Amino acid sequence: MEKTKIILDCDPGHDDAVAVMLAGKSPAIDLLGITVVAGNQTLEKTVRNALNVTAWLDIDVPVYAGCGQPMIREKMVAGDIHGESGLDGPVFPPLEKKAEPMHAVEFIIRTLMASDGDITMVTTGPMTNLAMAMRMEPRIVEKIRRIVLMGGSYTNGNVTPAAEFNIIADADAAYVCFTSGRPVTMVGLDVTRKVLCYPEIVERMAKVGNKASQLFVDLMAHFCKTQKEIFGWAGGPLHDPVTVACLIDPAVLTTKPMNAQVDIRSTSSYGRTNCDYFGYMGLPATADVAVDIDVEKFWDIVEQGLRNYD
Ligand code: BDR
Ligand code: CA
Repeated sequence: MEKTKIILDCDPGHDDAVAVMLAGKSPAIDLLGITVVAGNQTLEKTVRNALNVTAWLDIDVPVYAGCGQPMIREKMVAGDIHGESGLDGPVFPPLEKKAEPMHAVEFIIRTLMASDGDITMVTTGPMTNLAMAMRMEPRIVEKIRRIVLMGGSYTNGNVTPAAEFNIIADADAAYVCFTSGRPVTMVGLDVTRKVLCYPEIVERMAKVGNKASQLFVDLMAHFCKTQKEIFGWAGGPLHDPVTVACLIDPAVLTTKPMNAQVDIRSTSSYGRTNCDYFGYMGLPATADVAVDIDVEKFWDIVEQGLRNYD
């Protein structure tokens, strides 16, 4: 099977950590590098979390620190969900792994420029690093095979009624990416809120009985608790891993081409992804928007993702 080459741009984050886990050892994925952005917590913390997760799982992939703040707006973090560290819950051994000296944006530019146009950019945090890379070196745009992002919603947001966290945290960056002209797959809250990690799912994953499943259980203990307190879910929505899961098995997602635009102009709807589900506007489609997910298939992919570890 030909592997899908990806760069995973993330802000770990509990669900980002599971996305890293799925990508780290999947026979379907060639993980070229992990680039980190500020989002769920400050850059210093999200980088540390990425290093801890990859070190714990023996994922031999370089980690690059990227942008510590959005392109234009003030920085926002999600400490209410992910805790003070950005990854509250698991306790890791002393950290020896270090981030690479190169800036994440530089890594994205160099890797794409040297490629044959066969790299998929997967983003599970604010899209600052990718947007900055496009602005610094516009020639990379045509080198991007596809952008698969966790972000947005064509229904309700999770920060405001209109906006989802990854988009509102840097809506200008999302705007740059959505208007790049490259194929965009938007994995929004509309589907990620269908994969709720109920206690029986945690028990199922615990039975895998390896270091990956141990980390999964420790992550979900905190994540599901805060999701329940804030949103009332009986299980945490496992947003970010859906991006990787749909590259491992595209049949997990149903998508619909839509004209999708990031609102960077209004006040109350700032950061909303306006997706023309019914095609009212007669405008060309700009994104394949996820509209449904095969929940059972998704949990099978997650379980296999954990089993790929020793
Ligand atoms: C997104 O926001 C973050 O808190 C999660 O990691 C996910 O990427 C969900 O809105
Ligand atoms: Ca994230």
